[in-house]
Amino acid sequence: MQLRILILPLVLVLSATAHAHNITHILAGYPDLSTFNHYLTVTHLAAEINRRRTITVCAVDNAAMSDILSKNYPLYTIKNILSLHVFADYFNSKKLHQMPKGSATTSSLFQATGEAAGTSGYVDITSMKGGKIGFLPVDSTEDEPVATFVKTLGDIDYDISVIQISHILTSPEAEAPSSAPTDVNVTSLMAKQGCKAFSDLIRAEGTEDTYLQSVVGGLTVFCPSDEALKSFMPSYRNLTPEGKTSVVLYHAIPTYNSLGMLRSSNGLVNTLATGGPNKYDLTVLTDGDNVKLETKVNTATIKGTLIDADPLSVFKIDRVLLPRQLFKADPLSKSKSAEAPGPSTDDDAAADKDSSHDRGRIRGGWFVISSSSCLVMGILATIF
Ligand SMILES: *[C@@H]1O[C@H](CO)[C@@H](O)[C@H](O)[C@H]1NC(C)=O
Ligand SMILES: *[C@@H]1O[C@H](CO)[C@@H](O)[C@H](O)[C@H]1NC(C)=O
Repeated sequence: MQLRILILPLVLVLSATAHAHNITHILAGYPDLSTFNHYLTVTHLAAEINRRRTITVCAVDNAAMSDILSKNYPLYTIKNILSLHVFADYFNSKKLHQMPKGSATTSSLFQATGEAAGTSGYVDITSMKGGKIGFLPVDSTEDEPVATFVKTLGDIDYDISVIQISHILTSPEAEAPSSAPTDVNVTSLMAKQGCKAFSDLIRAEGTEDTYLQSVVGGLTVFCPSDEALKSFMPSYRNLTPEGKTSVVLYHAIPTYNSLGMLRSSNGLVNTLATGGPNKYDLTVLTDGDNVKLETKVNTATIKGTLIDADPLSVFKIDRVLLPRQLFKADPLSKSKSAEAPGPSTDDDAAADKDSSHDRGRIRGGWFVISSSSCLVMGILATIF
Protein backbone atom coordinates (compact mmCIF):
# COMPACT_ATOMS: atom_id res chain seq x y z
CA MET A 1 0.00 0.00 0.00
CA GLN A 2 2.67 2.42 1.10
CA LEU A 3 4.68 1.37 -1.94
CA ARG A 4 1.89 2.38 -4.29
CA ILE A 5 1.45 5.74 -2.59
CA LEU A 6 5.09 6.55 -3.17
CA ILE A 7 5.35 5.18 -6.70
CA LEU A 8 2.25 6.84 -8.15
CA PRO A 9 3.40 10.48 -7.84
CA LEU A 10 6.79 9.51 -9.20
CA VAL A 11 5.26 7.86 -12.26
CA LEU A 12 3.12 10.95 -12.83
CA VAL A 13 6.16 13.21 -12.60
CA LEU A 14 8.11 11.04 -15.02
CA SER A 15 5.31 10.82 -17.58
CA ALA A 16 4.68 14.57 -17.37
CA THR A 17 8.30 15.40 -18.12
CA ALA A 18 8.67 12.69 -20.75
CA HIS A 19 5.90 14.26 -22.85
CA ALA A 20 6.79 17.90 -22.36
CA HIS A 21 6.98 19.79 -25.63
CA ASN A 22 7.53 23.44 -26.42
CA ILE A 23 5.92 24.55 -29.69
CA THR A 24 7.77 27.88 -29.65
CA HIS A 25 11.04 26.01 -29.48
CA ILE A 26 10.10 23.53 -32.22
CA LEU A 27 9.12 26.33 -34.63
CA ALA A 28 12.11 28.52 -33.72
CA GLY A 29 14.20 26.41 -36.09
CA TYR A 30 12.19 27.70 -39.07
CA PRO A 31 12.66 31.46 -39.69
CA ASP A 32 10.21 31.36 -42.64
CA LEU A 33 7.48 30.41 -40.12
CA SER A 34 8.38 33.08 -37.54
CA THR A 35 5.16 35.08 -37.95
CA PHE A 36 3.00 32.04 -37.22
CA ASN A 37 5.21 31.27 -34.22
CA HIS A 38 4.96 34.86 -32.96
CA TYR A 39 1.16 34.83 -33.13
CA LEU A 40 0.95 31.51 -31.28
CA THR A 41 2.74 33.26 -28.43
CA VAL A 42 0.81 36.54 -28.35
CA THR A 43 -2.57 34.79 -28.59
CA HIS A 44 -1.53 32.44 -25.73
CA LEU A 45 -2.23 29.46 -28.01
CA ALA A 46 1.37 28.31 -27.46
CA ALA A 47 0.64 27.72 -23.76
CA GLU A 48 -2.51 25.79 -24.66
CA ILE A 49 -0.58 23.69 -27.19
CA ASN A 50 2.19 22.93 -24.66
CA ARG A 51 -0.39 21.82 -22.13
CA ARG A 52 -2.12 19.36 -24.48
CA ARG A 53 -1.14 15.87 -25.57
CA THR A 54 -1.90 13.99 -28.82
CA ILE A 55 -2.20 17.03 -31.02
CA THR A 56 -1.23 18.27 -34.47
CA VAL A 57 -0.14 21.82 -35.26
CA CYS A 58 -0.41 22.98 -38.89
CA ALA A 59 1.95 25.91 -39.38
CA VAL A 60 2.03 28.23 -42.39
CA ASP A 61 4.87 30.34 -43.71
CA ASN A 62 5.19 34.12 -43.37
CA ALA A 63 3.68 34.76 -46.84
CA ALA A 64 0.53 32.78 -45.97
CA MET A 65 0.29 34.60 -42.61
CA SER A 66 0.45 37.98 -44.34
CA ASP A 67 -2.77 37.10 -46.23
CA ILE A 68 -4.67 36.96 -42.97
CA LEU A 69 -2.80 39.80 -41.25
CA SER A 70 -3.57 42.16 -44.16
CA LYS A 71 -7.23 42.02 -43.12
CA ASN A 72 -6.38 43.92 -39.91
CA TYR A 73 -8.33 41.60 -37.65
CA PRO A 74 -8.18 42.11 -33.90
CA LEU A 75 -6.03 39.67 -31.99
CA TYR A 76 -8.92 37.54 -30.73
CA THR A 77 -10.09 36.92 -34.33
CA ILE A 78 -6.56 35.90 -35.32
CA LYS A 79 -6.62 33.59 -32.32
CA ASN A 80 -9.87 31.99 -33.55
CA ILE A 81 -8.36 31.46 -37.01
CA LEU A 82 -5.10 30.04 -35.65
CA SER A 83 -6.98 27.70 -33.32
CA LEU A 84 -8.34 26.02 -36.48
CA HIS A 85 -4.70 25.02 -37.10
CA VAL A 86 -4.38 22.94 -33.95
CA PHE A 87 -6.04 19.51 -34.16
CA ALA A 88 -7.07 17.55 -31.11
CA ASP A 89 -5.59 14.39 -32.62
CA TYR A 90 -2.14 13.21 -33.61
CA PHE A 91 -1.47 13.09 -37.39
CA ASN A 92 2.14 12.67 -38.39
CA SER A 93 3.16 12.35 -42.04
CA LYS A 94 2.82 8.56 -41.98
CA LYS A 95 -0.67 8.63 -40.50
CA LEU A 96 -1.75 11.34 -42.99
CA HIS A 97 -0.50 9.32 -45.94
CA GLN A 98 -2.13 6.09 -44.73
CA MET A 99 -5.65 7.21 -43.74
CA PRO A 100 -7.86 4.08 -43.84
CA LYS A 101 -10.57 5.56 -46.10
CA GLY A 102 -8.35 8.19 -47.67
CA SER A 103 -9.99 10.84 -45.52
CA ALA A 104 -10.65 11.89 -41.94
CA THR A 105 -12.42 14.65 -40.05
CA THR A 106 -10.77 16.08 -36.98
CA SER A 107 -11.78 18.65 -34.38
CA SER A 108 -9.62 21.69 -33.82
CA LEU A 109 -8.97 23.88 -30.81
CA PHE A 110 -11.45 26.36 -32.33
CA GLN A 111 -14.10 23.73 -31.74
CA ALA A 112 -12.77 23.04 -28.25
CA THR A 113 -12.88 26.69 -27.15
CA GLY A 114 -16.65 26.79 -27.48
CA GLU A 115 -16.38 29.84 -29.77
CA ALA A 116 -17.45 27.73 -32.72
CA ALA A 117 -21.07 26.73 -33.34
CA GLY A 118 -22.27 23.50 -35.01
CA THR A 119 -19.75 21.80 -37.26
CA SER A 120 -17.43 24.79 -37.55
CA GLY A 121 -14.18 24.02 -35.86
CA TYR A 122 -13.91 20.67 -37.66
CA VAL A 123 -11.40 20.14 -40.45
CA ASP A 124 -11.61 17.61 -43.30
CA ILE A 125 -8.38 15.89 -44.27
CA THR A 126 -8.41 14.26 -47.72
CA SER A 127 -5.97 12.20 -49.71
CA MET A 128 -5.98 13.88 -53.14
CA LYS A 129 -4.79 12.96 -56.63
CA GLY A 130 -1.04 12.62 -56.98
CA GLY A 131 -0.59 11.66 -53.32
CA LYS A 132 -1.20 15.17 -51.96
CA ILE A 133 -2.94 15.60 -48.62
CA GLY A 134 -5.53 18.39 -48.45
CA PHE A 135 -6.94 20.24 -45.42
CA LEU A 136 -10.19 22.19 -45.48
CA PRO A 137 -12.37 23.44 -42.59
CA VAL A 138 -15.78 21.74 -42.84
CA ASP A 139 -17.63 25.06 -43.14
CA SER A 140 -15.14 26.94 -45.31
CA THR A 141 -16.47 28.86 -48.31
CA GLU A 142 -16.13 27.32 -51.77
CA ASP A 143 -13.61 29.82 -53.07
CA GLU A 144 -11.20 29.01 -50.27
CA PRO A 145 -8.11 27.20 -51.60
CA VAL A 146 -7.43 23.71 -50.23
CA ALA A 147 -4.33 23.81 -48.02
CA THR A 148 -1.94 20.95 -48.72
CA PHE A 149 0.70 19.16 -46.69
CA VAL A 150 4.19 20.59 -47.29
CA LYS A 151 6.53 18.92 -44.81
CA THR A 152 7.12 17.64 -41.30
CA LEU A 153 8.57 20.23 -38.89
CA GLY A 154 8.57 18.23 -35.67
CA ASP A 155 7.24 14.88 -34.51
CA ILE A 156 7.16 13.43 -31.00
CA ASP A 157 5.50 10.03 -31.14
CA TYR A 158 1.80 10.20 -30.22
CA ASP A 159 2.40 13.48 -28.39
CA ILE A 160 2.72 16.29 -30.92
CA SER A 161 3.09 16.43 -34.68
CA VAL A 162 4.05 19.77 -36.21
CA ILE A 163 3.62 20.06 -39.97
CA GLN A 164 3.68 22.83 -42.52
CA ILE A 165 0.68 23.36 -44.79
CA SER A 166 0.48 25.57 -47.88
CA HIS A 167 -2.38 27.94 -46.95
CA ILE A 168 -4.21 29.37 -43.96
CA LEU A 169 -7.23 27.37 -42.77
CA THR A 170 -10.16 29.68 -42.23
CA SER A 171 -13.93 29.85 -42.18
CA PRO A 172 -16.57 32.59 -41.98
CA GLU A 173 -17.27 31.53 -38.38
CA ALA A 174 -13.64 31.90 -37.32
CA GLU A 175 -13.46 35.32 -38.95
CA ALA A 176 -16.84 36.47 -37.62
CA PRO A 177 -16.74 39.58 -35.49
CA SER A 178 -17.45 38.86 -31.84
CA SER A 179 -17.25 41.20 -28.90
CA ALA A 180 -13.72 41.81 -27.79
CA PRO A 181 -12.97 40.37 -24.37
CA THR A 182 -11.03 43.56 -23.63
CA ASP A 183 -14.28 45.54 -23.88
CA VAL A 184 -15.52 43.69 -20.81
CA ASN A 185 -16.11 45.92 -17.81
CA VAL A 186 -14.46 43.52 -15.40
CA THR A 187 -15.90 45.06 -12.23
CA SER A 188 -19.51 45.09 -13.40
CA LEU A 189 -19.09 41.56 -14.76
CA MET A 190 -17.87 40.41 -11.34
CA ALA A 191 -20.73 42.21 -9.61
CA LYS A 192 -23.26 40.39 -11.80
CA GLN A 193 -21.65 36.99 -11.23
CA GLY A 194 -21.68 36.80 -7.44
CA CYS A 195 -18.61 38.84 -6.56
CA LYS A 196 -20.37 42.11 -5.92
CA ALA A 197 -18.67 42.84 -2.61
CA PHE A 198 -15.17 42.43 -4.02
CA SER A 199 -15.92 44.48 -7.15
CA ASP A 200 -17.22 47.23 -4.84
CA LEU A 201 -13.88 47.11 -3.01
CA ILE A 202 -11.97 47.41 -6.29
CA ARG A 203 -13.91 50.58 -7.06
CA ALA A 204 -13.77 51.94 -3.52
CA GLU A 205 -10.00 51.61 -3.41
CA GLY A 206 -9.57 53.44 -6.73
CA THR A 207 -7.97 50.33 -8.25
CA GLU A 208 -10.53 49.86 -11.04
CA ASP A 209 -8.29 51.52 -13.64
CA THR A 210 -5.39 49.24 -12.73
CA TYR A 211 -7.65 46.21 -13.19
CA LEU A 212 -9.17 47.45 -16.47
CA GLN A 213 -5.85 48.50 -17.99
CA SER A 214 -4.29 45.16 -17.15
CA VAL A 215 -6.86 43.17 -19.16
CA VAL A 216 -5.23 43.94 -22.52
CA GLY A 217 -1.96 42.26 -21.52
CA GLY A 218 -3.74 39.35 -19.85
CA LEU A 219 -5.33 39.21 -16.40
CA THR A 220 -6.42 36.46 -14.02
CA VAL A 221 -8.59 37.62 -11.11
CA PHE A 222 -9.23 35.64 -7.93
CA CYS A 223 -12.42 36.99 -6.51
CA PRO A 224 -13.32 36.11 -2.91
CA SER A 225 -16.97 35.14 -2.48
CA ASP A 226 -19.22 37.72 -0.83
CA GLU A 227 -19.36 35.48 2.24
CA ALA A 228 -15.57 35.29 2.57
CA LEU A 229 -15.28 39.03 2.18
CA LYS A 230 -17.90 39.71 4.83
CA SER A 231 -15.99 37.91 7.57
CA PHE A 232 -12.80 39.64 6.45
CA MET A 233 -14.13 43.22 6.59
CA PRO A 234 -13.36 43.86 10.31
CA SER A 235 -9.63 43.22 9.76
CA TYR A 236 -9.73 45.07 6.46
CA ARG A 237 -10.92 48.22 8.23
CA ASN A 238 -7.87 48.09 10.49
CA LEU A 239 -5.46 48.30 7.55
CA THR A 240 -3.71 51.48 6.45
CA PRO A 241 -4.92 53.02 3.14
CA GLU A 242 -1.85 51.54 1.37
CA GLY A 243 -2.55 48.17 2.95
CA LYS A 244 -6.14 48.21 1.71
CA THR A 245 -5.03 48.98 -1.84
CA SER A 246 -2.39 46.24 -1.71
CA VAL A 247 -4.88 43.60 -0.54
CA VAL A 248 -7.24 44.46 -3.39
CA LEU A 249 -4.43 44.36 -5.99
CA TYR A 250 -3.14 41.13 -4.45
CA HIS A 251 -6.14 39.28 -5.92
CA ALA A 252 -5.09 39.38 -9.57
CA ILE A 253 -2.09 38.19 -11.56
CA PRO A 254 -0.99 40.08 -14.68
CA THR A 255 -1.17 37.16 -17.13
CA TYR A 256 -4.07 35.27 -18.63
CA ASN A 257 -4.63 31.77 -17.22
CA SER A 258 -7.36 29.25 -17.88
CA LEU A 259 -8.10 26.78 -15.09
CA GLY A 260 -6.18 24.17 -17.07
CA MET A 261 -3.16 26.45 -17.34
CA LEU A 262 -3.23 27.06 -13.58
CA ARG A 263 -3.44 23.30 -12.99
CA SER A 264 -0.42 22.59 -15.16
CA SER A 265 1.82 25.49 -14.14
CA ASN A 266 2.18 25.37 -10.40
CA GLY A 267 4.56 27.78 -8.69
CA LEU A 268 5.17 31.31 -7.48
CA VAL A 269 3.35 34.11 -9.35
CA ASN A 270 3.45 37.90 -9.11
CA THR A 271 0.26 39.86 -8.48
CA LEU A 272 -0.89 43.37 -9.40
CA ALA A 273 0.37 44.41 -5.94
CA THR A 274 3.91 43.32 -6.81
CA GLY A 275 6.24 46.23 -7.45
CA GLY A 276 9.67 47.43 -6.44
CA PRO A 277 10.66 45.87 -3.13
CA ASN A 278 7.11 44.61 -2.50
CA LYS A 279 6.97 40.99 -3.53
CA TYR A 280 3.31 40.33 -2.82
CA ASP A 281 3.56 37.00 -4.60
CA LEU A 282 1.56 33.84 -4.06
CA THR A 283 1.89 30.17 -4.91
CA VAL A 284 -0.43 28.24 -7.23
CA LEU A 285 -0.82 24.59 -6.20
CA THR A 286 -2.78 21.68 -7.61
CA ASP A 287 -4.39 19.39 -5.07
CA GLY A 288 -6.22 16.58 -6.85
CA ASP A 289 -8.76 18.35 -9.05
CA ASN A 290 -8.56 21.51 -6.97
CA VAL A 291 -6.42 24.53 -7.65
CA LYS A 292 -5.25 26.24 -4.47
CA LEU A 293 -3.63 29.59 -3.88
CA GLU A 294 -1.21 29.71 -1.02
CA THR A 295 0.06 32.87 0.60
CA LYS A 296 2.52 32.55 3.46
CA VAL A 297 -0.45 33.17 5.77
CA ASN A 298 -3.40 31.21 4.39
CA THR A 299 -4.69 29.09 1.52
CA ALA A 300 -7.74 29.63 -0.71
CA THR A 301 -9.37 27.19 -3.13
CA ILE A 302 -10.84 28.05 -6.54
CA LYS A 303 -14.55 27.27 -6.40
CA GLY A 304 -15.80 28.39 -9.77
CA THR A 305 -15.18 30.25 -13.04
CA LEU A 306 -16.97 33.55 -13.67
CA ILE A 307 -15.39 34.14 -17.06
CA ASP A 308 -12.66 32.52 -19.10
CA ALA A 309 -12.16 34.46 -22.31
CA ASP A 310 -8.53 35.10 -23.18
CA PRO A 311 -7.07 37.60 -22.21
CA LEU A 312 -9.30 37.74 -19.10
CA SER A 313 -10.29 35.06 -16.61
CA VAL A 314 -12.03 35.50 -13.26
CA PHE A 315 -12.26 32.70 -10.68
CA LYS A 316 -14.21 32.66 -7.46
CA ILE A 317 -12.24 31.67 -4.34
CA ASP A 318 -13.43 30.69 -0.88
CA ARG A 319 -11.14 32.95 1.19
CA VAL A 320 -9.60 36.38 1.07
CA LEU A 321 -5.89 36.02 0.23
CA LEU A 322 -3.77 37.43 3.04
CA PRO A 323 -0.30 38.66 2.03
CA ARG A 324 2.32 38.05 4.70
CA GLN A 325 3.47 41.68 4.34
CA LEU A 326 0.21 42.70 6.03
CA PHE A 327 -0.94 39.72 8.06
CA LYS A 328 0.62 37.33 10.53
CA ALA A 329 0.16 33.62 10.21
CA ASP A 330 -1.59 32.18 13.21
CA PRO A 331 0.94 29.67 14.50
CA LEU A 332 -1.73 27.55 16.22
CA SER A 333 -4.24 27.12 13.45
CA LYS A 334 -3.48 27.87 9.84
CA SER A 335 -7.06 27.44 8.70
CA LYS A 336 -8.46 29.70 11.42
CA SER A 337 -6.20 32.55 10.38
CA ALA A 338 -8.38 33.18 7.35
CA GLU A 339 -11.37 33.92 9.51
CA ALA A 340 -10.12 36.49 11.96
CA PRO A 341 -6.59 37.62 11.23
CA GLY A 342 -5.20 40.73 12.77
CA PRO A 343 -3.08 43.10 10.71
CA SER A 344 0.54 42.38 11.30
CA THR A 345 2.29 44.81 13.61
CA ASP A 346 5.70 43.22 13.26
CA ASP A 347 6.48 42.42 9.63
CA ASP A 348 10.04 41.34 10.25
CA ALA A 349 9.06 38.78 12.83
CA ALA A 350 6.40 37.40 10.51
CA ALA A 351 8.83 37.28 7.60
CA ASP A 352 11.46 35.47 9.67
CA LYS A 353 9.04 32.88 10.86
CA ASP A 354 7.76 32.37 7.31
CA SER A 355 11.11 31.91 5.67
CA SER A 356 12.16 29.29 8.22
CA HIS A 357 8.87 27.58 7.50
CA ASP A 358 9.80 27.66 3.79
CA ARG A 359 13.18 26.09 4.29
CA GLY A 360 11.56 23.32 6.28
CA ARG A 361 9.19 22.61 3.44
CA ILE A 362 11.83 22.58 0.78
CA ARG A 363 13.85 20.12 2.82
CA GLY A 364 10.71 18.02 3.22
CA GLY A 365 10.17 18.07 -0.57
CA TRP A 366 13.68 16.83 -1.27
CA PHE A 367 13.28 14.13 1.28
CA VAL A 368 10.21 12.78 -0.53
CA ILE A 369 11.96 12.89 -3.92
CA SER A 370 15.11 11.20 -2.78
CA SER A 371 13.26 8.52 -0.85
CA SER A 372 11.18 7.68 -3.96
CA SER A 373 14.30 7.48 -6.13
CA CYS A 374 15.89 5.15 -3.54
CA LEU A 375 12.76 3.07 -3.75
CA VAL A 376 12.97 2.90 -7.56
CA MET A 377 16.65 2.00 -7.39
CA GLY A 378 15.77 -0.62 -4.82
CA ILE A 379 13.13 -2.06 -7.15
CA LEU A 380 15.51 -2.02 -10.12
CA ALA A 381 18.17 -3.72 -7.98
CA THR A 382 15.64 -6.44 -7.11
CA ILE A 383 14.71 -6.98 -10.77
CA PHE A 384 18.24 -7.14 -12.18
C1 LIG B 1 9.99 27.48 -25.09
O1 LIG B 1 11.01 27.78 -26.03
C2 LIG B 1 11.26 29.18 -26.17
C3 LIG B 1 12.24 29.36 -27.32
O2 LIG B 1 13.25 28.43 -27.31
C4 LIG B 1 11.75 29.73 -24.84
O3 LIG B 1 12.02 31.11 -24.95
C5 LIG B 1 10.70 29.48 -23.77
O4 LIG B 1 11.17 29.89 -22.52
C6 LIG B 1 10.35 28.00 -23.71
N1 LIG B 1 9.21 27.84 -22.81
C7 LIG B 1 9.19 26.93 -21.84
C8 LIG B 1 7.95 26.88 -21.04
O5 LIG B 1 10.15 26.19 -21.63
C1 LIG C 1 -18.05 49.69 -15.28
O1 LIG C 1 -19.43 49.64 -14.98
C2 LIG C 1 -19.83 50.41 -13.84
C3 LIG C 1 -21.32 50.25 -13.63
O2 LIG C 1 -21.84 49.13 -14.22
C4 LIG C 1 -19.48 51.87 -14.02
O3 LIG C 1 -19.80 52.58 -12.84
C5 LIG C 1 -18.00 51.98 -14.31
O4 LIG C 1 -17.69 53.33 -14.57
C6 LIG C 1 -17.64 51.14 -15.51
N1 LIG C 1 -16.22 51.26 -15.74
C7 LIG C 1 -15.70 51.59 -16.91
C8 LIG C 1 -14.25 51.83 -16.94
O5 LIG C 1 -16.39 51.68 -17.92
